[in-house]
Order: sequence, then structure tokens, then C-alpha cells
Amino acid sequence: MTARTAIVTGAARGIGAATARRLAADGHAVAVLDLLEDQAQATAEAIASEGGRALAVGVDVADEAAAAAAVDRVAAELGAPAILVNNAGILRDNLLFKMSAQDWDAVLGVHLRGAFLMSRAVQSHMVEARWGRIVNLSSTSALGNRGQANYAAAKAGMQGLTKTLAFELGKFGVTANAVAPGFIETEMTRATAERIGVSFEDFLAGAAAETPVGRVGQPEDIAAAVAFFCSEEAGFVSGQVLYVAGGPKA
Ligand SMILES: NC(=O)c1ccc[n+]([C@@H]2O[C@H](COP(=O)([O-])OP(=O)(O)OC[C@H]3O[C@@H](n4cnc5c(N)ncnc54)[C@H](O)[C@@H]3O)[C@@H](O)[C@H]2O)c1
Repeated sequence: MTARTAIVTGAARGIGAATARRLAADGHAVAVLDLLEDQAQATAEAIASEGGRALAVGVDVADEAAAAAAVDRVAAELGAPAILVNNAGILRDNLLFKMSAQDWDAVLGVHLRGAFLMSRAVQSHMVEARWGRIVNLSSTSALGNRGQANYAAAKAGMQGLTKTLAFELGKFGVTANAVAPGFIETEMTRATAERIGVSFEDFLAGAAAETPVGRVGQPEDIAAAVAFFCSEEAGFVSGQVLYVAGGPKA
């Protein structure tokens, strides 16, 4: 595989960290972007200890100037980005009648505005190189989920963004695809269990029982799907949404 420079947002932990490690193992130099700079540094150090090349960058992807500056720094210190994984995300779950406008804006801001800002910032490098891969993290929640009006709208929006990027950037050798995970064991699902007052073990067991393959997903399950979309051989696959949910959730 040709070595490229990859950016993974929200890569301090969870799915993003597993994806950063996987892309590094595939031979790419990886920029580990996250709000949590210390934890991003830990991911970068883990990659370096596994023989890879990584750079940790603290950034809020929803901040226009910060997102552009982060991409400039990656280009200067690691090389022009050819791969972008828009993975950073937050939850602010609530039923519609209790959901604040701030919680709506925060979720749409990180997922959707963040993915837009990062994609816009990297596209010139990809277009110039006539090669690029953008992968956006959607979710089975894009199909609708109780208590997640903001998150479901953001994750459905990621699919529309993905298809539009595929149309606009295809002629420059840039593909855009989305991975839509089901239940993955991370800090995000742990926080949900805490919020609803269920032990994480019981929460995991319940999710596994509802999943056709009989287990919950691990971050590496998602990293593998992302890595496929980023590969050389996936150049004719664009504008697709792959549900990685242990069953036909879509
Ligand atoms: N865990 C699941 O079951 C699941 C299912 C479907 C989709 N997803 C999606 O996968 C992605 C990763 O989820 P996860 O479970 O690993 O979550 P996580 O909470 O463990 O990790 C998310 C990371 O994003 C970072 N982040 C948050 N806001 C940011 C911002 N403004 N700028 C930069 N970084 C920011 C966090 O600091 C954190 O490190 C998210 O987009 C999430 O919506 C997760």
C-alpha cells in the first residue's frame, strides 16, 4: 500500500483511536486530532511504539479557524493529508420536549459542522494530488432513535454530506464514504449506560442479545471497515454507507 498522510478526528480514544492505529499499521502517517490533547498524545505514542508515525494535535473540529490551522499544521509536519476520517462526536441525548437548543447545536456542531469544516480544509490537498479518501462516521441512529433527535439528524446529515462530497470530488480521484456503526463498546456507550442508571455490563449484555451476531462491536470492527474505504483498491467505491452493526440493522 502507498504510504499517505491520514487525519483521524476524535482519535484520542474509542473508534477514532482504533482507526488511527489501524491506518498506521497499514503504513500511513497519522495525525491524531482531538479536543483531549493529552489523550491524543497517548494515542500518537502508542502508534510510535508500534513502529508507526503519528502527530497529536489538540483541536475543536467545530471551530472554523482551529480546524483550518490543524490541517495546515498536519500538512507542514506530517505531509499533505490524503485521507480524512471524520469521527469526532458527542452525545447530548434527551426526549424532544426536554432537548435544549444548546444541545441541538452542540451535537450538530461537532458531527456535521466539524465534518464539513475538516472536509473543506483538506480537499485542496486531495484535489491537487488527484487522490483522496474521506470517510465519515454515521450511525444506525441515522434511521431514527428515541431520545436522539439531534444525534439522528447529525448522523443522517453525515450521509447526505458523504454523497455530495462523492459527487463533487469524484473527478479529482477523491472518494467519500460513510461507516454507520451499531453498538460499539466505548466511552460513549459507557456514558449512556451511566446516564440511564444501568451497569455497563448489563447494558452490553442487553445490546449483545439484540444483535444477530450475538455480541457488541469493538472499535477495531469499525476501524477495519474504515481501512477498506481508505485503501487503494476501494477507488471505485464512493458515496456509499456501510452499516457495521452485527446484523442487517439498515
Ligand atoms: N460507540 C458507538 O456505539 C457508536 C455507534 C455509532 C456511531 N458512533 C460514532 O463513532 C464516533 C466515535 O465514537 P466513540 O464511541 O469512539 O466515542 P468516544 O466518546 O469514545 O470518542 C469520541 C472522541 O471525539 C472527541 N471529540 C468530541 N468533540 C470533539 C471536538 N469538538 N473536536 C475534536 N474532538 C472531539 C472526544 O474527545 C473523544 O475522544 C462518533 O462520531 C460516534 O457518534 C459510535
